[in-house]
Amino acid sequence: MTTTAPLPAAAAYGRLMDQANRHDPYPLFAELAAEPVQRLDAHTWLVARHTDIARLLRDPRLSARDDAPHGGPDAPLGSDGLPFAGPFLSLDPPHHDTLREQTMHQLVPRILGMRPHIEAAVGQLLDAAGGGPGRLDIVESVAYPLPVGVICELLGVPREEEPVFHSFATRLTRGLDPVESLSARQIADLEVTRRDWRAYLLPMIARRQADPGADLISGLLTEGDPAHRMNTLELGATLGLLLIAGHETTVNLVANGTLALLRHPDVLARLRADPGLAPAVVEEVLRFDPPVQMTGRHATAPIQVGGQTVEPGDRVLLLLAAGNRDPLRFPDPDRFWPERPDNAHLAFGGGVHYCVGAALARMEAQAALSAIATRLTAPRLVADPPPYRPTMLLRGPRELLVDHDGIT
Ligand code: HEM
Repeated sequence: MTTTAPLPAAAAYGRLMDQANRHDPYPLFAELAAEPVQRLDAHTWLVARHTDIARLLRDPRLSARDDAPHGGPDAPLGSDGLPFAGPFLSLDPPHHDTLREQTMHQLVPRILGMRPHIEAAVGQLLDAAGGGPGRLDIVESVAYPLPVGVICELLGVPREEEPVFHSFATRLTRGLDPVESLSARQIADLEVTRRDWRAYLLPMIARRQADPGADLISGLLTEGDPAHRMNTLELGATLGLLLIAGHETTVNLVANGTLALLRHPDVLARLRADPGLAPAVVEEVLRFDPPVQMTGRHATAPIQVGGQTVEPGDRVLLLLAAGNRDPLRFPDPDRFWPERPDNAHLAFGGGVHYCVGAALARMEAQAALSAIATRLTAPRLVADPPPYRPTMLLRGPRELLVDHDGIT
C-alpha cells in the first residue's frame, strides 16, 4: 500500500483558513510565499509572488467564470444568450465587459460628486457617537454604517431599508469564501439567503421599471441601447455584487486602517497633524492589511508559473495579501510605512476585473481615517488583537473597541 504525503502547502493553507489564525495570517502567507507557486491539491495552485499575481490577473487564459450551476438545464438566459451565470465578477469577456461597462457608466459620474457627502456622513457618525470620554466600537459606529449608507444612496435604496441591506451584505459575504471552508449547514444557509435576496430585489426592480428615478438602478434599467440592457437576472446579480463588493470590503478597510493607526502611534500623530497624509495612509493600509485577501481563477489553457505548468481546468488561487508583502517587490514589506515610494499593491486586483469601486472606497476610507485621527482625543485599543469576522476572503475585525478622552 502506498500513502501519499500531504502537500506542504496544504498544512499552511489549512491554518490560514483556521479562525484561530484570522487575527494574523501574515506569517502563514510568508510561509506560502517561500515558493512562487505551490500545489494545494491535485488541481489547485497557490500563487504568492507579486509579479506572478499581477501577470496572471491580466492573463486571458485564466477564467473568472463561476461554472457552478445557477439553475440547471432550464436555467434562464443572460443577455448574451448563454445560461445565466451570475455576477460579472464571475464572467469572462465579452459578456463581462458589456455588463461592467453599463455599470461603470452609471457608477463613475455618481461617485465623482460624493466626497462632500461622504465627509459629512463621517462627521455625523462621529457626532452621534457622543462628545465626552468614552468607549467606541469603530466597526459599529463608523466602518459599517458609512459604506452601507453610501451604497444605498448610490443605488437609490431608501434609508429605512438600510438595515435590510446591511443584513443581506453580511449573510451573502460568506458565499465568497472557498467552498471547501464552508460546512454543509453554511452552504444550505447561503442558498436560503440567496433566495431571500432575489425575493427582496425583484419587486424593487419592478418598482423602478414602472416608475424610474435618478438612481443607479433606474439608470441601468432605462438608459442606453435597449437591445443591450441588462435583463432582470443580470441586474439582480449586479446589485448583489455591488452590495457585497462595495460594502463589506470598505468596512474592513476602515477597520483595518484604524487598527493599523492605533498600533502605529507615530503614523497616527502624523495624520492628526496633517490630514493631507490620508491618501498615502489608505494606500498603505490597502497594501499592509488588504480587505480582500485572495481571489481565484480557472486555467483554460496550459500556463507556466514559477517553473510549474498549470493545466487546463486547474484552479489558481492568487494570494493578493501575500503579494502585497512580497520582499522582492516592496522593501521592508512588514513595515507599515505610508510614505513608501511606489506602492503598487494588489488590493484592488488588476486586469479586466480591476475593482470598479476603488475610487469610492478610497474616498470613504480617507474621510473616515482622517476624521478618526483628528477628532478622537487620545484613542487607544481596548483589545489587541480584536475579535475577527469568520470570513477569510474578506478579512477584518468584527468589533474594534477604542477608549478615548473625547470626540471633538
Ligand atoms: C472587483 C477589492 C470596494 C465593486 C474587485 C476586486 C478586488 C476588489 C480585489 C477584483 C476581484 C477579482 O479580480 O477577482 C475591493 C476593495 C474594496 C472594494 C479592497 C474596498 C476597500 C468596492 C466598492 C465597490 C466595488 C466600493 C462598488 C461600489 C467591485 C466590483 C468588482 C470589484 C463590481 C468586479 C469588477 C469586475 O469583475 O469587472 N474589488 N473592492 N468594490 N469591485 Fe471592489
